[in-house]
Amino acid sequence: MKVTKAVIPAAGLGTRVLPATKSMPKEMLPIVDKPAIQYIVEEAVHSGITDILIITNRGKGLIEDHFDRVPELEARLTSGGPEKEKILKEIVDISHMANIYFVRQKETRGLGHAVNCARSFVGNEPFAVLYGDDVIIGEDPACAQLIRAYEEFGLGVLGVKEVTAEAITKYSSLKVDNIHDNYYKCTDMVEKPTPDKIMSLFSILGRCILTPDIFDILDSTSPGAGGEIQLTDAMGTMARSKGMVAVDFTGTRYDMGNKLGIMQASVEVALKHPEIGDAFRQYLKEVSKTL
Ligand code: UTP
Repeated sequence: MKVTKAVIPAAGLGTRVLPATKSMPKEMLPIVDKPAIQYIVEEAVHSGITDILIITNRGKGLIEDHFDRVPELEARLTSGGPEKEKILKEIVDISHMANIYFVRQKETRGLGHAVNCARSFVGNEPFAVLYGDDVIIGEDPACAQLIRAYEEFGLGVLGVKEVTAEAITKYSSLKVDNIHDNYYKCTDMVEKPTPDKIMSLFSILGRCILTPDIFDILDSTSPGAGGEIQLTDAMGTMARSKGMVAVDFTGTRYDMGNKLGIMQASVEVALKHPEIGDAFRQYLKEVSKTL
């Protein structure tokens, strides 16, 4: 079955980026001139996704506004002459990229709980999950790479990368065996492992393809690390029973949930930006002389 639906959980509290995220959703933090969540929606659309459910909560109305039309702004840009035409098209296109739906996670009970809010949207189809604070930039969209693996193996798929032994305790660790190239069979995983529980340095970074049986598993998953219902715990049950496939995807992943990740994304995207890239490179060279 083709993967045409995606879920973007964006209902976290973003406590690592306070005070910026006190009233502003972290998913709306800009990378140069686009909010993080727009990069994620574009990745999904470029991967063949047509229907997207964004999981929000109180105070995240700005995300809904971003994917809506803004008649007053559009009218102003229309009368702004040819140079405003390009930006007008961009603004209007944002609201036509895909069918975008919203549902609220009423309590912040973890990523697994957020994904479980997508049950009726998903129905009986495989679906992609793109974490709302993980922006991945690359030639071949990460989500598309995972969808191809789903089409090859018919199992749930995890987007993974190797991280350092120090970093992995903050993420997840996977038990994997190579299948071929960058494809691995995953038969177990653990969220936020203590050093003695590390199974490999492969960690899930922001993308997966799940089959709808994950919902029954989530229903019976007890709160794990941090007292939250962890998606990793539910996927661990799936990996141990029927196995999953891990794809060491290409592309650069930026963690928009922490301050350093936000700065890395801004600097690297700005350097390649058609409008400001050259001037920003010049500026960085000057600044680096003073470091
Ligand atoms: P994080 O683990 O980064 O949690 O969530 P957080 O609450 O957003 O951030 P901190 O740790 O307080 O700074 C990973 C993804 O899961 C979503 C987040 O929005 C983010 O996209 N999430 C997390 C939910 O949608 N609901 C939750 O209950 C928890």
